[in-house]
Amino acid sequence: MFIMAATGSAVGLGNIWKFPYITGENGGGAFVLVYLVCILLLGIPVMVAEVMLGRRGRQSPVNAMRELTREAGLHGFWNSIGWLGVVAGLLILSYYSVIAGWALAYIPEMGKGTFQGAGVVESQAFFDALLADKSRLLAWQSLFMVLTVGVVACGVVKGLGVAVRILMPLLFVLLLAMLVFAYREGDFAAAATFLFRPDFGALTGRSVLEALGHSFFTLSLGMGSIMAYGAYMPADASIGKTVLVVALLDTLVALMAGMAIFPIVFANPSINPAAGPELLFVSLPVAFGAMPGGLLVGMLFFILVTIAAWSSAISLIEPGVAWLIEQRGFNRFSANILLGLMAWALGLGTILSFNDWSGVTFGGFTFFAAMDFLTSRIMLPLTGLFIAIFVGWVMPRMTAKSELNGDNSKMYGLWLWVLRYICPPAIGVVLLVGLYDTFAAAN
Ligand code: TRP
Repeated sequence: MFIMAATGSAVGLGNIWKFPYITGENGGGAFVLVYLVCILLLGIPVMVAEVMLGRRGRQSPVNAMRELTREAGLHGFWNSIGWLGVVAGLLILSYYSVIAGWALAYIPEMGKGTFQGAGVVESQAFFDALLADKSRLLAWQSLFMVLTVGVVACGVVKGLGVAVRILMPLLFVLLLAMLVFAYREGDFAAAATFLFRPDFGALTGRSVLEALGHSFFTLSLGMGSIMAYGAYMPADASIGKTVLVVALLDTLVALMAGMAIFPIVFANPSINPAAGPELLFVSLPVAFGAMPGGLLVGMLFFILVTIAAWSSAISLIEPGVAWLIEQRGFNRFSANILLGLMAWALGLGTILSFNDWSGVTFGGFTFFAAMDFLTSRIMLPLTGLFIAIFVGWVMPRMTAKSELNGDNSKMYGLWLWVLRYICPPAIGVVLLVGLYDTFAAAN
């Protein structure tokens, strides 16, 4: 159950939409390599720490942190790990639901045959028209929000767990089919070179920060999602092993999405690999339009993307909901409506940033880019840093040891060492250099 829920949370738009497009923007191979190193060296150890905190606290992240700091007689500052998470979750959900709305919008279009035989020009034109149309974006974003809030409000996370158990493998199979198509019809070799041959000349502090931020984003770290699910984990399950499984599946899906998308991109010189958020939505429909049975495959693909996004969105709102229920006497329904409305309203800014507000910038970022930057590149790494310091240095050693004693003691020693000596300085330096580079580039 934990593996399903955590995989449902981890695998989402971050893998299928975001990973390919930021890889394209950051020049390919070197970025992918840094990203993989971040997953292995920073993401996995922090994930183990986060699951452990959740299982130890057995409550919503805010209260779990409060409990753990009180139990150890520590400063209330550490409660910010819980707080920052609730806020980051709402901010992420606000733009996540807009992008998931795009995926929803593509389902009927696929079915109608809009992309049948379409070239890149038609595909691009369709996408541009969608972004220019505020009311359509709003309708799809709202529908996605209703779906998310609906599931969390009914407390049928278990029901969704079942859906995820069937649909995730289906997504996997479909990605495999896309890979085969990309291999036969696209420029597979160019894509493989782009993704797996590092060109370190293209790497800046900013891209390293983006890789770090994305490794937290894609594993759902630094926000309480994984902590909240950790609270449901049986006391005798091995945290280390389950975390490895989730991280492996998550990485695999991202790489498969990359190898499904880039061969098509490189086979069509008019698609720019650095096109940004539109990459998935412009390139793949061309492939579906050219495939035998592409109508059906395309529809199925966007249905599965929506479901993957759905199970992730639930985990973005759940920590806040759990906190309102425990602490503020809300019931599940009203807590959901309140948080869902807040994220929905904030999402209007993201919708407008693609049309009316496309010229409005905050420190060089559009509203959407600013939300993404603030959450993925500042809040998630910062919370990850706090978690590493808290678990590695501040919390009584016995707490972690007793929670993790089901795990191999060599691995436990290695984990603790990495968490203490690698994670804090590495995350700290990347944050500082990345922020410096970003603002130097903006000025
Ligand atoms: N990991 C999800 C994705 O890749 C998004 C997500 C869900 C998330 N919960 C999170 C990101 C918590 C950061 C923190 O699409």
